[in-house]
Amino acid sequence: MKNILEAPFLVEMVRTTTNMYAHGWDERNGGNISVLLDEGDVAEYVDVNAVIRDIPTGFEAPALEGKYFLVTGTGKYFKNVQYDPARNLGLVRLTNGGKTAQLLWGFTDGGRFTSEFPAHMMSHAARLSVNPDNRVVMHCHPANLLAMTYVHDLDERAFTRTLWQMCTECIVVFPEGVNVLPWMLCGTNEIGEATAEKMKTARLVVWAQHGIYGAGADLDETFGLIETAEKAAEIYMKIAHLPLKNTISDNQLRQLETHFGVKAREGWVD
Ligand code: 13P
Ligand code: ZN
Repeated sequence: MKNILEAPFLVEMVRTTTNMYAHGWDERNGGNISVLLDEGDVAEYVDVNAVIRDIPTGFEAPALEGKYFLVTGTGKYFKNVQYDPARNLGLVRLTNGGKTAQLLWGFTDGGRFTSEFPAHMMSHAARLSVNPDNRVVMHCHPANLLAMTYVHDLDERAFTRTLWQMCTECIVVFPEGVNVLPWMLCGTNEIGEATAEKMKTARLVVWAQHGIYGAGADLDETFGLIETAEKAAEIYMKIAHLPLKNTISDNQLRQLETHFGVKAREGWVD
């Protein structure tokens, strides 16, 4: 059996949590990540028949039966993952229709997966139904996106158009736009179901007055999505109180669509 601390999926997870903390997106235990893994990759590093313990999930996710996830622990600090991955992360396999998570590695202090596990797992199922390459769900609390939800209309089209207008490349990076949920109680199946529903039409879902969810094929892509949206929100928060002299017009958004071969969400560019 190879050393899991050297597994590419684990190394990448450690780097990403460290980087997200450095960006200020994950204060204290804020934020969580889950990564879908292939059984073949997992089996190189852990005995997939040696279940350490069963953890009830509190929800059903039949579409994820038998699937493996590397996931951050609840109450764990992103800044500490690099110093003790086995305590702060866990590797689980879903069974029993998604009602049970079998722990195969990690959570060494008796811990369990993030309290946002419902939103993560339901979002994985939703993203996989529209894109079988989706492997990552990431949640964090970037300050400018969060700030924007206090002062900007939460209408998804309006919110997205503002972000697209803040940086030229936004419409290229997330042409489908961002979806927005109003404030809801976090850590519940309800917010999980609502997030998953929004994930069917966009890889970014803003949680008003809380943070953002991103989904993508890998950690880099998902990080980059959130990074781009957060940069746009930062520009917005810098200029929102100033008289606007220039912007990116709808005609220019159309030029970007054509030049980069992307299709913006239907009806969101005039
Ligand atoms: P966890 O520590 O349970 O992952 O929760 C952090 C968080 O951001 C909740 O939304
Ligand atoms: Zn959160």
